[in-house]
Amino acid sequence: MAENNPFPGENNTGHVWDDNLRELQNPPPRWWMLGFWASILFVIGYTILYPSWPVGQEATPGIMGWTQMKEYERGLEQVTAKRAQFEDRIRSLSATEILADPGLMQYTLSSAKVLFGDNCAACHGSGGQGNPGFPVLADDDWLYGGTTAKLTETVAGGRQGAMTAHRSILTDAEADTLANWVVQMSETGGQGGSEEGWALFKSKGCIACHGAKANGHVLDLPNGDFVTVGAANLTDGIWRFEPGGYDSAKHTILYGVNQTGVPETRNAVMPAFSSAGKLSEQEIKKLVVYVHALGGGK
Ligand code: HEC
Ligand code: HEC
Repeated sequence: MAENNPFPGENNTGHVWDDNLRELQNPPPRWWMLGFWASILFVIGYTILYPSWPVGQEATPGIMGWTQMKEYERGLEQVTAKRAQFEDRIRSLSATEILADPGLMQYTLSSAKVLFGDNCAACHGSGGQGNPGFPVLADDDWLYGGTTAKLTETVAGGRQGAMTAHRSILTDAEADTLANWVVQMSETGGQGGSEEGWALFKSKGCIACHGAKANGHVLDLPNGDFVTVGAANLTDGIWRFEPGGYDSAKHTILYGVNQTGVPETRNAVMPAFSSAGKLSEQEIKKLVVYVHALGGGK
């Protein structure tokens, strides 16, 4: 083939098509070759420094001693150090002071959101919106009070409302009157309860727990706080037990709340989170801030 190369003296391979189309042997450009050798050097260097070639189940370790695990641990240390500043400040401040500190609030809320999801959401809903039988935390209606002090008591110590079962001390007609009265009260903001209902409310002892205004406050303190045994506010439209309304109210009146030996009783137990080391004081403080931010107040 070389003998009849139509382009002798040229650095072609002797392959010619269509009279003049031929394969040449030009070296690649210099920059390309430099890149090529550099990449080979890089691979050699890299495999000496870092874990690379597979050997059985393992790989060559590399002389730098780098591992993904160490990298992860270093990252974690950095995050922990960053968090420590916030955690220290949370430890040294009260829940009320944290609420007044917007920068710290951001950290506290995102940290508490996780705690809430793990410990509270199963009963109270992921946004504190409540579930049948479990009170809404994202409103301003509180059985036990929504100040940071009351919330801390609730979360740390738990709560268990108690209401007597009245089935043996009320006639059916009286239970009807009271259940209707409760509905009237809830529909009229506590203004429209029947005289008969009010009379029974007082004479049958409801007043002792639900308070003179039937709003769940046994005593209103001058500082705006109130004393409560956890009795529901009967003057708002918010029902503690589903579905609410006449039948629901009558059921609660007859069988009470958390009454042992009364199978039909309402169950309402808020677990204590400080017991058995369930949550630390720090975690409870964050949750109190979180719940207060959801629907705090009095
Ligand atoms: C097993 C279910 C359950 C879990 C879990 C639970 N709660 Fe409760 N919680 C209740 C019940 C029931 C009540 C109402 C108690 C009552 O009526 O006496 C309540 C009441 C409360 C109240 C008082 C509401 C008011 O109106 O005064 C707060 C605040 C509260 N829970 C916060 C929390 C927080 C924060 C967590 C997570 C750390 C949590 N709860 C976990 C069941 C639960
Ligand atoms: C020993 C205290 C106590 C007495 C007495 C009592 N209650 Fe209650 N009542 C409670 C508590 C506590 C709750 C709320 C329980 C909870 O949420 O854990 C409640 C809840 C209710 C509810 C449910 C409200 C809702 O939103 O679902 C009704 C209705 C009610 N009471 C009516 C009455 C009536 C009427 C009487 C008198 C016949 C009465 N109660 C007597 C403590 C009492």
